[in-house]
Amino acid sequence: MNHLRINANRMMNNLAKVSEIGATGDGGVHRPALSEVHLAARRWLRETIEAAGLEFHIDAAGNHFGRLRCGPDGAPSLLIGSHLDSVPYGGRFDGALGVVAGLEVLETVRDAGLRLACHLEVVDFTDEEGTLVGLLGSRALAGSLTPADLENPRGGRETLDAGFARAGIADPIAAVRASETLAGFLEMHIEQGARLNKAAADIGIVTALVGIGSFALNFHGRADHAGTTPMDARRDAGLGAAQLMVRAWEHVVDTYPGAVINFGQAEFLPGAYNIVPETAALSLEFRAESQEMLDALERDLLELAERTAAAFDLELESHQQGCVPPAPCSPFVRSTLAKACETLGLRSIDLVSGAGHDTQAMTAVCPAGIIFIPSTGGSHNPGEFAEDSACENGANVLLHAALAGWGV
Ligand code: GLV
Ligand code: MN
Ligand code: MN
Repeated sequence: MNHLRINANRMMNNLAKVSEIGATGDGGVHRPALSEVHLAARRWLRETIEAAGLEFHIDAAGNHFGRLRCGPDGAPSLLIGSHLDSVPYGGRFDGALGVVAGLEVLETVRDAGLRLACHLEVVDFTDEEGTLVGLLGSRALAGSLTPADLENPRGGRETLDAGFARAGIADPIAAVRASETLAGFLEMHIEQGARLNKAAADIGIVTALVGIGSFALNFHGRADHAGTTPMDARRDAGLGAAQLMVRAWEHVVDTYPGAVINFGQAEFLPGAYNIVPETAALSLEFRAESQEMLDALERDLLELAERTAAAFDLELESHQQGCVPPAPCSPFVRSTLAKACETLGLRSIDLVSGAGHDTQAMTAVCPAGIIFIPSTGGSHNPGEFAEDSACENGANVLLHAALAGWGV
């Protein structure tokens, strides 16, 4: 089976087709989870799965699957996939490439008429990107999505409820799947950074994925006339928020090498040129490789926010908006992926993922792993890009990893 290869034309053609859905005209896509356009992309996936003669199904979290029954009756499935949702005005590779690559692996195995030790399923998980909750579908399947996660979602309750109504999702937590039905999970993704290109490597084998903490921080001061209120008599919530952003950035850079922090949204209210801001609402996210560092970061950042509020005579309200623990990838899957690279004559390196991925949730329930392929243009923007040859290499690695024994 060493000679077997995916059909790169078919896969890239599928990527081109799904990239038209929600295309923004600058090479990117806008497909926030469970928006009309995201659901249109999922209809395309369903039609493509059915046209390929695979068994289609949807679970209670809206996750989409196509199954190839290539194993013995009653055998578990190796899941291969990622997500079709995008960040707002994102790129066309993040997530979608992993889904079309999974589909391509199944079609290649089907065309070759192979029988394996397990079945194969391509999966498109719901809301990986966190415009609603984050890793919603993969955590639901893995049994780690809780009612609390749905009560206070990152994207706001109204957006979540509207998305669920559009997609017909009533109880996503019911999507939990018995681990006996899972042989493993494989994902392929663009690197979204420059390490592979720098190392002149073809494939990155992820050793672990960082943990992610997120908080909504609301500073409250007093709305005042911006012309008549002396500078030393203001309770300016915007100024407190601005100082926190700078101080927190400095603290993380100085004290937590390897960790990252982001204030991705800021809003001043009431919001006019001539009113001192009464409220400043910040969205804070931080990431670290170990739970210990994640906990320490959370403690430091919240203390700093409290001190900053006190210094500007403000009140602070903080709400945790979800927390994803760091996740080491399965040693079995890592070595299976490394062997696949060897078989294909591809040079691989090990690396840590600074991005969250569905693999993160799946590591808790089955042997799970993720590979990166070289990409340029960063990511979460329309300019993210991977060469056809890199996409082809990655999908061939998934294929050869899928052909391995999977412990069943
Ligand atoms: C998902 O791409 C994330 O890391 O936020
Ligand atoms: Mn992704
Ligand atoms: Mn992403």
